[in-house]
Amino acid sequence: MKSDSQAAFGRREFLRLASLAACSAPLRGLAYDPIPALKVRKVSVPLGVAEPFSILHVSDSHIARIDSRDGEATYAFAKSRSRKGRELGEYYLGEALHYARARGIKVVHTGDFMDFASVANIEHAARRIRTDDIVACVGNHEYWLDAGKKEVESYKTATIPKLKGEWKGVPASAVRLGGANFFMFDNSFGTVTETIAAAFEETVKEGLPIVLVCHVPLWTEDVGLNVDSSCGALGRNLCDAVSSEFVERVRRESLVRAVLAGHIHGFHQFAFSDHAQELVAGALFNGDCTEIEFTK
Ligand SMILES: [Fe+2]
Repeated sequence: MKSDSQAAFGRREFLRLASLAACSAPLRGLAYDPIPALKVRKVSVPLGVAEPFSILHVSDSHIARIDSRDGEATYAFAKSRSRKGRELGEYYLGEALHYARARGIKVVHTGDFMDFASVANIEHAARRIRTDDIVACVGNHEYWLDAGKKEVESYKTATIPKLKGEWKGVPASAVRLGGANFFMFDNSFGTVTETIAAAFEETVKEGLPIVLVCHVPLWTEDVGLNVDSSCGALGRNLCDAVSSEFVERVRRESLVRAVLAGHIHGFHQFAFSDHAQELVAGALFNGDCTEIEFTK
């Protein structure tokens, strides 16, 4: 049985702890930085379609999932990749999907959906692409399996079969949206292949306005981007004949009215050719995206 002094101490201690808990609750709340709202930049691009329509252009979500199916080497690679801020990619992807769904517009993702090609990342990204009806092309990170991350075409071989079901443009395909052909292609290491160039010519034959959708911005001498930032810093080289001819070819093609890309984690808009604007989306893990209205 407790004495009076023990009971009084118990009450005093209870009241002291209760008041501490009450005081610390708002302080705990302040310990978290609020997540800034999704930043949606709005732009308008003439496309030459019968009816205007809009899309939400997102890029570089860099989701970073890993689970027990991924081995120790993948775990070590994932840990080496962890960077403050990028963990918000999944959050902002959800926000972008809500935004687009509320407006009845399609989400077009220009690559680096994931940060590395773990089993968990590919499974999650593929499910999101399928269930949320996202139109996505591949980025260089869709292929990164390990610290070797060689950016040569042969490095893609192991991962391509895992991506083909959900990602578009592996290596090239056209998606019809709003009366235009969105020509999706894999230039994730900065270069294109003859297969992609040939697929582009087939799309041109359909005679519809074309939006090019790829990961690495297509470089031109007229733009404010330098070669390193537009092609990547890892030896990506637009100077191979097939790639440079492809860029010149699409610049000449009057059906090409827009180029959508990502990769450099900053928004850019500039004239790509006499007929087309290039739009580079900011990083979705920073909450950046672009609502593009394609007009007549
Ligand atoms: Fe990238």
